[in-house]
Amino acid sequence: MEVIIQPTAEKAALLVARLIARRLRAKPAFVLGLATGRTMEQVYGHLAEMHRRDHLDFSLCRTFNLDEYVGLSPKDQHSYRYYMDQHLFSRVNIDRRNTHLPNGAARDLGAECVRYEELIHDCGGIDVQLLGIGADGHIGFNEPLSALRSRTREKALTPATIRQNAPLFGGKASAVPRRALTMGIGTILDASHILTLVTGAEKASILAKAVEGPITSMVTASALQLHADCKVIVDEAASKRLRGRDYYRWIFRNEPEWQEFRAR
Ligand code: GLP
Repeated sequence: MEVIIQPTAEKAALLVARLIARRLRAKPAFVLGLATGRTMEQVYGHLAEMHRRDHLDFSLCRTFNLDEYVGLSPKDQHSYRYYMDQHLFSRVNIDRRNTHLPNGAARDLGAECVRYEELIHDCGGIDVQLLGIGADGHIGFNEPLSALRSRTREKALTPATIRQNAPLFGGKASAVPRRALTMGIGTILDASHILTLVTGAEKASILAKAVEGPITSMVTASALQLHADCKVIVDEAASKRLRGRDYYRWIFRNEPEWQEFRAR
């Protein structure tokens, strides 16, 4: 795992977008794992801008989102499909048929989860998985005690997650669905590369647990410590509780791999 600290949330999101853009240019038919949430909005804004300004080409790219609420139709404005259309898919030249989310409105949710796993497999697996972290340290909707080898399945959301996501439902916790379909931790760890973006002071303590604490299913983001190529990009505010901050800063300032990103 590598932790990179950027001065602001804006710069952290830009770095994540640039890392994605670099891989997309190197392999136009790459398979991108996507996340939702407020943190990701800036990343998608930058990718849309790179498409508009620099002709970043999404025409061959295939995407798989981490999760979707159970019971919401893709047309529902609170669904993650709607979020993705709004923040990314409608703003770049991606073929909508190449964009995939689990269908939370499927009649047979178990079969839908199996279908989703098979589809990822048939596409050759995920090249880069983008991740955020929930207030309780979840990735996707892998709530505390999710098996570290879990695959795509239905999960009940914790009250903390429901509260955290209420602002996206007009502030009404009662409007947030109680269940979701989510890639499992095993599914996420199968991606070749992982990019995690965490910003804001309110995530500082859960980020420290995920990155520097013991690997535990109580904080499912801690499972990322098992991944061979996981970068965690954070802003100053989120980095406040990290014991290794000085070392992480040193890495960004000195390691050759980061040179092109230091220049700007
Ligand atoms: C939801 C999503 C997660 C996301 C999290 C963080 O729970 N399922 O994938 O990481 O929200 O959201 P935010 O960026 O709004 O803090």
